[in-house]
Order: sequence, then C-alpha cells, then structure tokens
Amino acid sequence: MNSKQNLKSIETNRLILRLWTEADLVPFFEMNQDPKVIEFFPGAMSHDQVELFFKKVLLQFETNGYGFWAVELKRTGEFIGYTGLAHVMFDAPFTPAVEIGWRLASEHWGQGYATEAALAVMNFVGEFLSLSEIVSFTVPQNLRSQNVMKKIGMERDVLGDFNHPRLDENHPLSLHVLYRKGI
Ligand SMILES: CC(C)(COP(=O)(O)OP(=O)(O)OC[C@H]1O[C@@H](n2cnc3c(N)ncnc32)[C@H](O)[C@@H]1OP(=O)(O)O)[C@@H](O)C(=O)NCCC(=O)NCCS
Repeated sequence: MNSKQNLKSIETNRLILRLWTEADLVPFFEMNQDPKVIEFFPGAMSHDQVELFFKKVLLQFETNGYGFWAVELKRTGEFIGYTGLAHVMFDAPFTPAVEIGWRLASEHWGQGYATEAALAVMNFVGEFLSLSEIVSFTVPQNLRSQNVMKKIGMERDVLGDFNHPRLDENHPLSLHVLYRKGI
C-alpha cells in the first residue's frame, strides 16, 4: 500500500485516528478557545480559521493520503482533538520536511493519549511512507509537547532553534526548538 491509497483510520488501544467530519468542528472550535490549549499559540482560532483548517486537512488527505487525523476516544466515541502529519509550509533550514503535530482538548491531557496517537502515526510513517525523517517543533516553554516528542523517540537538534517566519522576531512565541527523528 502506498501513501495515497485510502487508509481511512488508524486504531490504537484506546483511540481511533480517523478522517474529520463536519461534526468535529464545534468541539474543535471550542477547544481552540481554551486558554490552556492555546497558551503557546498566537491566539484563539476563529470560526473562519477552523473552517479553513478543516478544508486544508481534507485536501491534505486527498493529495497525500495523510494529514492531521481527528482523534476519537474509543470508549465514548468523543472527538478529542488531532494528531498527525503535515508538510511544513514555510521556508527554514530544515525544510522541505514533514512534521508530526498534536492538539488535544485539555480535559483529556495527562492520560497518554497524545503519545499513543503519535506512536501510531510514527508506525504509519514507517509502514506506508518513504520519508527519511520526521520533524516537530514548538516554543521552548511548551514542555508538554516536547515531552511527547521525546517519548516517541525524537531528539532535539540543538543547532536547529529558529524564529518562526510567520511571527515577528520580537514576538514572545517567535523562538522555536526543533526535534527530529530519522525513519
Ligand atoms: C501537547 C499535548 C498534546 C500533550 O498532551 P499530554 O496529555 O500531556 O501528553 P501525553 O499523551 O504524552 O500524556 C502525558 C501524561 O499522561 C500520563 N498518563 C496517564 N495515563 C497514561 C497511560 N495510560 N499511558 C501513558 N501515559 C499516561 C503520563 O504520566 C504522561 O506524563 P509523563 O510523560 O510526564 O509521565 C497537549 O498538552 C496539548 O494538546 N497542548 C495544546 C496544543 C499544543 O501545544 N500542541 C503542540 C503544539 S507544537
């Protein structure tokens, strides 16, 4: 199977990583108003930004066969956020590259769900994609996210710190740390 063949969902012990549906948009909008969830992002996501995100994710799956999967709790069927892959859309010393990323509703943190989903995504990469590396990045203050990166075997590239090109250099969230994992 290559990456463009239809892998509709990925199942783990406690989670289903699946394609997004319209029904995910309300809970996704709500989690993006939570100050804890957006602490390390420049701001809350508006309805328009959520719609645009949704369209882009659908397009990613259509074009590449992968993207940010919606994450559903098997036990309750509840949508709890996303975990997945994206082509880095800005120029940096480490691009072109594919990143792994995650965002979960804060009431579901601290239960290992992000790591469980991310490990499943890494297995998908190893099994179906011919990539030599996956990257991930965040601000130095986002220790929870870096913790997930470390737990899935990524290593910080200490020479890889960069200022995010979409933010002013003086913005407090401009500086990012880079993690890498060879496949
Ligand atoms: C980053 C984010 C996804 C991390 O979520 P998380 O729940 O802290 O991450 P994990 O799934 O790894 O769970 C962490 C903790 O769950 C605990 N846990 C409880 N039950 C567990 C279980 N059954 N299995 C594994 N871990 C379990 C662990 O102790 C672990 O903490 P530790 O590694 O310090 O021991 C979350 O904080 C988030 O969505 N943040 C906002 C968005 C964001 O910043 N995204 C990243 C942008 S780069």
